[in-house]
Amino acid sequence: MKTLISSDVRLLANLIQEGKVVIFPTETVYGIGASTRLESACLRVYEIKGRPKDNPLIAHFHSIESIAAVCELGEVGRALLERFSPGPLTLILPKKDKSLFPKELDTLAVRIPKNPVVREWIELSRGPVSAPSANLSGRPSLTKLSDVLRYFDGVVDGILVAEEPSFGIESTVVSLVGSHPTLLRPGSIESSELLSVVSDLEIPGPTSKYDIRAVPLSPGTKYKHYAPTARVILASKEEFEFSLKTMNESKSTAWIGFSLEGIKPVLENQRIQNHTLGEGKNLCLVSSNEDYASKLYAFFESCDSLGFQTIVCEVPKPGPGEEGLRNRLEKAASI
Ligand code: TXA
Ligand code: MG
Repeated sequence: MKTLISSDVRLLANLIQEGKVVIFPTETVYGIGASTRLESACLRVYEIKGRPKDNPLIAHFHSIESIAAVCELGEVGRALLERFSPGPLTLILPKKDKSLFPKELDTLAVRIPKNPVVREWIELSRGPVSAPSANLSGRPSLTKLSDVLRYFDGVVDGILVAEEPSFGIESTVVSLVGSHPTLLRPGSIESSELLSVVSDLEIPGPTSKYDIRAVPLSPGTKYKHYAPTARVILASKEEFEFSLKTMNESKSTAWIGFSLEGIKPVLENQRIQNHTLGEGKNLCLVSSNEDYASKLYAFFESCDSLGFQTIVCEVPKPGPGEEGLRNRLEKAASI
């Protein structure tokens, strides 16, 4: 199949209207989308990803009013969207328009991406556009166009070329359908920020409880996610530095973390001089939790493609950006 790779939002919106599958960047990760109004197109997304059928998709909208037209938004939903959208927040809402995919569910996951070009494309597509993250099921989400092309050029009908993801981890998911609002998936918008709008938000325990052992309120949380093929080890600062000093000649280990600078004098070889992500590199220096999140999945991809067997990840710093990042790291390390 010939894939249309273009920044022309009109051409790519036509593809969605024709029932085709298009990959597009959001501020979090790339999505692989089809019209929420066309069931057969949405089912093709499942086929391409190898995604289990019981894991529903997020519908991407261009505006709050377009959400209110098809879902019961309510006061809390509106307050959350007004505060955090467009941006990395997904709400689970009761559906008004029962014809939207998936028809058998009476709820819909909704979100408004941050990039205005992407919103224009959704509007021109006569959205919403249903899209999971653009990756093969079980693999980490993709954040680089080069990785998207490696997996999906020739597989999907179109790829929208626009600003690449900057947040790097998937949206925060909040359900507004149960007895009270519940955080289903942590992300860049943190529970402390959500609590300032929704004081009765239920936050399920420590982050590792978001996985298969917890009641799967959100079907996606019961599947293995976000993990590269390489084994992921989550290490304290001390463990991270120790492993670097003792294993720095290892050809099969890679490191991502804050504490690479500090050991520069110990590692005088060229890898540490040039420790940004790239061909043959096994070190990735990060400067903040946000920087870490934005580089993590691309580093996982790079490590897998270069055949590294182990990736040592330093724990996030306490404070802003920790919550979602820690959740993804713990999942990747299967803690
Ligand atoms: O940042 C993101 O959210 C990205 C970009 C592309 O928007 N999308 C993404 O989609 O991460 P996905 O499919 O990988 O994750 C969607 C999550 C899954 O855990 C799914 O089970 C949950 O949202 N979900 C979707 N519809 C739901 C519903 N009606 N009720 C409960 N959970 C739902
Ligand atoms: Mg996903």
